[in-house]
Amino acid sequence: PVSLKGRHLLTLKDYTSEEMHYLLNLAMDLKAKKRAGIQGTLLERKNICLIFEKTSTRTRCAFEVAAFDEGASVTFLTNSQMGKKESVEDTAKVLGRFYDGIEFRGFKQETVDALAKYSGVPVWNGLTDMYHPTQILADFLTIKEHVAKPLNKVKFVYAGDARNNMGNSLMIGAVKMGMHFVALAPKALWPSEALVAEMNAVAAETGGTIELSESIDAVKGADVIYTDVWVSMGEEHLFAERIKQLMPYQVNKAMLDATANPDVIFMHCLPAFHDLETTVGQEVAKNHGITEMEVTDEVFRSKHSVVFDEAENRMHTIKAVMVATIGNL
Ligand code: CP
Ligand code: NVA
Repeated sequence: PVSLKGRHLLTLKDYTSEEMHYLLNLAMDLKAKKRAGIQGTLLERKNICLIFEKTSTRTRCAFEVAAFDEGASVTFLTNSQMGKKESVEDTAKVLGRFYDGIEFRGFKQETVDALAKYSGVPVWNGLTDMYHPTQILADFLTIKEHVAKPLNKVKFVYAGDARNNMGNSLMIGAVKMGMHFVALAPKALWPSEALVAEMNAVAAETGGTIELSESIDAVKGADVIYTDVWVSMGEEHLFAERIKQLMPYQVNKAMLDATANPDVIFMHCLPAFHDLETTVGQEVAKNHGITEMEVTDEVFRSKHSVVFDEAENRMHTIKAVMVATIGNL
């Protein structure tokens, strides 16, 4: 039987497919329990620290609600001494004395790795420049709920910036689950050769496959079309370049039609740029003359789109991660 007691979640590279299935099944159980209105005790008397260097809606709220649902208390920390007056190492050693688990969202993967190394308690990556592992668990739970095939039969197409935290993490997760993963992007935005080589070695064991393509034809037969913002947090100077590189890969009706799969689902980790309802959207419209980027409003709001089920599943899967690693199981 699988036990994840005491483990960190820094990247899905560290998890086997069996361990990922275990987390997805636990998340399904916890979701059913919540739906039945049962208050949990699996995190009773646990204290959890949530460190955020970057903004968040879903990740922060998912950790907080998941913790409260199972009886834990949380501290939301955005203005600590860490990295300014105090090293990550010293901060980790202090927080490890107070808390049973620590979530970190921020700029550098090295920071979350150092927190894990020095805190002595499980550390969960809530997004860095390199990876966003809790998002992938939510995504795969959503696929299980919406695609009528086992995960290892799924053709998964990621269109957009395939070198960012989402591109990296989705490729890792997909390969671990034995999926056919397609990175659809201009060559300059394909995942790094080193990561592809590392994941091809894993694929040889799991039966997964990795395809890198610049051609929209690669979406044929896709079960899932996934995209993410073209410009990640901290890269706001790249709008002009990315719009030029990625406009041909916008997820629109023509791309969904090219899958030739009437049941194809559209996914996005959110937040998504598909209208002008935001200050950033209005800036981009003013400076670059476009009102939609990675996905059209038409596709975002279509019957193919499962983005809000996906967002909800952040909470159930993050709960599973905390319960599995620090819970009273
Ligand atoms: N998908 C995601 O991580 O959302 P937030 O940035 O709102 O946490
Ligand atoms: N790639 C995006 C993901 C947001 C959830 C970013 O890092 O901003």
